[in-house]
Amino acid sequence: MTINVRQFGGLSRDPVLPITEIEHSAFCKSESDLPAKPLLDEIKVNVRWQKIPVKYLHLTAEELDVRIHEAREKLGNRVVILGHHYQREEVIHYADFQGDSFLLSRQAANQTEAEHIIFCGVHFMAETARILCSPQQRVILPNMAAGCSMADMAPTGDAMDAWDDLEALLGKGGVVPITYMNSTAEIKALCGRNGGIVCTSSNAVRVFQWAFERGERVLFLPDQHLGRNTALKLGIDLDEMIVWSPFKALGGHTPERVRSSKVILWQGHCSVHTRFTVRQIKAARERYPGINVIVHPECTMETVQAADVSGSTEVIRKAVNESPPGSKWAIGTEISLVNRLAKSNPDKVVFCLDPIVCPCSTMYRIHPAYLSWVLDALAAGELVNEIRVEDETMGHARTALERMLLVG
Ligand code: 13P
Ligand code: SF4
Repeated sequence: MTINVRQFGGLSRDPVLPITEIEHSAFCKSESDLPAKPLLDEIKVNVRWQKIPVKYLHLTAEELDVRIHEAREKLGNRVVILGHHYQREEVIHYADFQGDSFLLSRQAANQTEAEHIIFCGVHFMAETARILCSPQQRVILPNMAAGCSMADMAPTGDAMDAWDDLEALLGKGGVVPITYMNSTAEIKALCGRNGGIVCTSSNAVRVFQWAFERGERVLFLPDQHLGRNTALKLGIDLDEMIVWSPFKALGGHTPERVRSSKVILWQGHCSVHTRFTVRQIKAARERYPGINVIVHPECTMETVQAADVSGSTEVIRKAVNESPPGSKWAIGTEISLVNRLAKSNPDKVVFCLDPIVCPCSTMYRIHPAYLSWVLDALAAGELVNEIRVEDETMGHARTALERMLLVG
């Protein structure tokens, strides 16, 4: 039977780039420009920054350091700070716990003491902390403009439409939804409601296996590269995978093609990790024969296959830190983590594959001035930048996240 694709998802439309994607290149800079300057200088980078009281605009990193310490003193163990590995130097050292997305989500679930969790990371991470911590706790993101361009490539409405189309075509249970942590709470809830699950880059293989024990087909949102790299690791052929365009009716496929697929990859990517190329790997190997190349699985399939190892930010951190003196590492991940690893391993050669310095523009928006602002406010009894998730969404999203925590 042939089905008219117009039945599913309506008409195609022009592709739209999220604003966070467009803004990325504004943050590419020279190595010497990386250290934090007073926020007033940094906001000259013409992108969206959250408004902040004027007095914070002029403070130097040293002045902010004094303020942050004073506020933390006042707050004591009422506050815990979680920090993702991509945070800047001037922010990460305040973190009580550092980690990749998986470890930080576990930390958030384990924080029973602190009244307030300040998440130095990006919006989807803080939202996940909100979902996993206890109801009386409050989660704060220092700068609400710290989103994620990949997460923004899967607007909730588009994901819901795709799900409706897939269910109409394949029937209930015809596809198991998996969402990468880098997605909205509503998409996590969609997975929770429909027998699906969340994954991070550290457990994607195990999560795919979990899903294939429950169904014959997987929908993976929003990072096509992590999805493809993971499916390949499990021995799934490229011709069993399709890329779902949210801008085309039925993702750009015929019903027959969707039915014959095993993995449906959402057409999203990370602007930071798609910068790493096979050519850069070749150049690193020519310069340092025998060098270890390690990349994040958000890189393209070609880059991951040309590297020696791929893994989450925690896997990368451990591999470099635990390697013997004299080891050489070319790394395909965000520059703040690479520079930190280079600094803390002076007896090794450690550098970023990409010669152009382009930090994750949204992680980078957690300037110490924002951390100082939210801490000062808390010390004065005020709550700013609280992350909230609507109750029903929270319940279903927690189901999907708890499934992931059980898989480990
Ligand atoms: P990790 O889970 O490896 O920390 O990755 C998060 C992320 O956003 C990478 O771009
Ligand atoms: Fe999002 Fe990429 Fe930044 Fe990670 S590095 S937070 S995926 S934009």
